[in-house]
Amino acid sequence: MSSAEVAVQVYRMLEPEDLRMLQIIETGMTSREYVPKEQLQKYAKVPMDRVDFELSRLDKLGLIYRMQGGYVGYTLNYSGYDCLAINAFVKAGVLEAFGKSLGVGKEADVFDALNPKGTRVAVKFHRLGRVSFRQTRRKRGYTLDRAGWLFQSRLAAEKEFEALKRVHAYGVAVPEPIFQNRHAIVMGMIEGGELARWRELDEPAQVLQRILANVRLAFLDADLVHGDLSEYNVIVKPDMDVLIIDWPQSVRRNHPNAEDLLVRDVKNILVFFRRKFRVKVNLESACEFVSGKTQVLEV
Ligand SMILES: Nc1ncnc2c1ncn2[C@@H]1O[C@H](COP(=O)(O)OP(=O)(O)O)[C@@H](O)[C@H]1O
Ligand SMILES: [Mg+2]
Repeated sequence: MSSAEVAVQVYRMLEPEDLRMLQIIETGMTSREYVPKEQLQKYAKVPMDRVDFELSRLDKLGLIYRMQGGYVGYTLNYSGYDCLAINAFVKAGVLEAFGKSLGVGKEADVFDALNPKGTRVAVKFHRLGRVSFRQTRRKRGYTLDRAGWLFQSRLAAEKEFEALKRVHAYGVAVPEPIFQNRHAIVMGMIEGGELARWRELDEPAQVLQRILANVRLAFLDADLVHGDLSEYNVIVKPDMDVLIIDWPQSVRRNHPNAEDLLVRDVKNILVFFRRKFRVKVNLESACEFVSGKTQVLEV
């Protein structure tokens, strides 16, 4: 089971005291990775046997980790953090029930869900550092502790939500941004499949045109470059409309790497269309189009 699947199952069993203790651990984690039991008791303002009971319950539910070193300390794992975000969504009235998992990516878990009106929504939990959680050895030359990764995941969700709101307001085809809390986002659910998974398209040239028109709109009007565009981050709907997803790494036009990222985004898409659908478009003319130097793109 993925961390989010654990959270989704366990969430319904949680009592207000459980959520309160998770929140107290979360607060303690702003100053250290493992929060000492004594500190938890201080904030919980209940007898120690009550704290012990609560912690062992959360541990059994798979929401926290216990560390026995120089002292006994506790830290949230991703499922515990997920539960706090789910609780915020439920309280805000944007989430009622979870459906199936839509994808466990390298850096996010996405679920199909329902809001209280019965409308389908997608819930995305950011998961930075998931790999490093297990392999404690550092790979990228640095590593963060658990608290650091939860924080980075929250930053990614905040960034993605801001970007979605911005491009959505300018009419770029993206899922509707609905609500964000901690490392998670609720957004409109899209029916369709990742571009990479479509074996055939009736009019591939038109699909390519639509993607590039959205890249152009994001760049010229919303002032944003996606920065991780590929056939995996474009969803093609059954009616052949396209939506661009996965925006946490997007940058503003004035970012020093904006131009390079824009070229890379366009190139990824062109290479894919040439290889898979034999649609050939010159990189230079596509870049001139998306950056507004030309008005039309012949495909
Ligand atoms: N709003 C959405 N509606 C439907 N499916 C989605 C939605 N957002 C994401 N997905 C699915 O979840 C997968 C992972 O989401 P994505 O935002 O690309 O995160 P990451 O690639 O970082 O794991 C996507 O490839 C897509 O299949
Ligand atoms: Mg993606």
